[in-house]
Amino acid sequence: MNNPTILVIGGTGMLGAPVAQQLKADGFTVRLLARNPEKARKMLGEGYEIISGEVADAKALRAALTGVDGVHISLKGGPTAADYERMDHLATRNIAQAARETGVGRVTLLSAYAVSAEKADTPESRSKFRGETALKASGVPFTIFRATWFMESLPLFVQGKSLSLIGDQIHSLHWVAASDYARMVSNSYQTDETLNKELYIFGPEAYTMGDAMKIYAEHAGVKVTLLSTQMLAVLGALTFNTEWKGMATLMKHYEKWGEDGSPDEANRLLGTPKITLKEWCQKKRR
Ligand SMILES: NC(=O)c1ccc[n+]([C@@H]2O[C@H](COP(=O)([O-])OP(=O)(O)OC[C@H]3O[C@@H](n4cnc5c(N)ncnc54)[C@H](OP(=O)(O)O)[C@@H]3O)[C@@H](O)[C@H]2O)c1
Repeated sequence: MNNPTILVIGGTGMLGAPVAQQLKADGFTVRLLARNPEKARKMLGEGYEIISGEVADAKALRAALTGVDGVHISLKGGPTAADYERMDHLATRNIAQAARETGVGRVTLLSAYAVSAEKADTPESRSKFRGETALKASGVPFTIFRATWFMESLPLFVQGKSLSLIGDQIHSLHWVAASDYARMVSNSYQTDETLNKELYIFGPEAYTMGDAMKIYAEHAGVKVTLLSTQMLAVLGALTFNTEWKGMATLMKHYEKWGEDGSPDEANRLLGTPKITLKEWCQKKRR
């Protein structure tokens, strides 16, 4: 029998690439739907089936889904409300429906914590909630990964020599390394116990965003600077900077909502994440 084939959509992304690599390392045949096959090949190397196309192209999506056992969705929307809706909701809905029609065995989706009807108070969280809801309604077996903040996000807040802490981020967060998460996603394809579940992916230690940034800043040789969400929103409006406006709204959501759910079931079924923030920083420096 051939190895199961898993399609990764978003396999060139910060969080999709480690999943594609882990699945391949674990013996799956990995197919990618890539807008830029050359970029995918350069980034991931040989040994992947690559279908050229974008997720809104129904024909390319069907071709990518044909003959696969599972599909992992790791797309990113934003920063406008329309783009969150296009990627986090509509793309997820379309993939799930097409997966159901082509007889795909399961869909796994990277979502986030604080995604629920009660907490759908920003374009991102609303679209993610709608995407999760559409996946569940599609009838295809699913696993939703409600992940906390990834350690890989920390460098994204660096500009020059400064690391911006945006907003009053009071909540303790279990920062997780993408490689731990990728191993958990791959393991999820090796058991049926994960089907039709939302699993919370939390790392081994909790730090507020400010404390995590201090640790990363020390390793990266940068300084943490504070910026309120109001100030970023005003700067974004004055300079017509959609990214900044979107970031201000996103960080307001995380000022308000801390982690919800428990990682116990994910850890029991998929293995506990082990990499600490300090270990991750040291590895990154090497
Ligand atoms: N950062 C965190 O801490 C965190 C925590 C929880 C959840 N998440 C969620 O994780 C998800 C993935 O984030 P990320 O940082 O990995 O995003 P990313 O690096 O921007 O990756 C997005 C991927 O989607 C692909 N893509 C974009 N538009 C596409 C289209 N129209 N058709 C096909 N492929 C398309 C991109 O391909 P190209 O190479 O062609 O651009 C890329 O491979 C996001 O939804 C985010 O909200 C993040």
